[in-house]
Amino acid sequence: MTSSHSVEVHLRSGQEGCGWAREQKAVAVVVDALRASATITCLLQRGAAEVLVVKEVDEAYAYREEYPNTLLVGERGGVKVEGFDFGNSPTEIQRADVRGERVVFTSTTGAQCLVDCLGASAITVGTTINASAVARQVSAMALAETVPIVIIPAGLATDPSVTAEEDWLGAAVLAAHLGLPIHHASAQSFQHYQQRIQSDGLLQGFLQSSHGQTLVGLGFVDDIRVCAQVDLISDIVPTVTAVVPLPRGGQGVRLQRGTLKHATSL
Ligand code: MLT
Repeated sequence: MTSSHSVEVHLRSGQEGCGWAREQKAVAVVVDALRASATITCLLQRGAAEVLVVKEVDEAYAYREEYPNTLLVGERGGVKVEGFDFGNSPTEIQRADVRGERVVFTSTTGAQCLVDCLGASAITVGTTINASAVARQVSAMALAETVPIVIIPAGLATDPSVTAEEDWLGAAVLAAHLGLPIHHASAQSFQHYQQRIQSDGLLQGFLQSSHGQTLVGLGFVDDIRVCAQVDLISDIVPTVTAVVPLPRGGQGVRLQRGTLKHATSL
């Protein structure tokens, strides 16, 4: 019989976290708390059929050239990419009709991490707004298969030396929902961000973070408010279900709502 103590939760950020997820065949949860995780979760909650995550803007353009019935969603520098249908904005998506749509999504950091996790046992997108739903599925899979869970605060792909506090805060919320032991190497960070949430509150933490400040400057305060709502969405666990070869080379990952599956055999 599997003991819950045989599964531990690790928090490892950015590229290091993705690499570790691949090496350890862990269940990976990518947390880009402001805002990629929330935008992808909202797209699936609003009825998008799938979200194909790609690293590059040019890959998104090329995909739509090949498959014209595709919505493009994403950002660079925090703002909607030219020619895209929507920005990386959960509030924009909450107002949009995306039912049945095939979406291609790219963002500065969250998208990079999702593709870079390929090779992990399973890959999902988690954040505050779907924390309970993700925690339920991720812990069930990790316990059934006795593999570690790695929560990956996405960070900043363009500058890995940056500590993205908003992602660590989101990761701490998720880790607390798992109810599983936190590996000793991650315990100090976990406790630090838990204390920050208790003393300042999640919304303040997000607003005060460096990326939060950038988004405030760009006029996206409402996005931050949405992203700070724990369990706003109770039933969406964006899950990598396929690796998709892209028209001009490279690959993306397809995310759908559903039950966590093995990504290693995709
Ligand atoms: C990212 O993936 O880099 C972020 O979600 C950026 C953003 O907030 O638009």
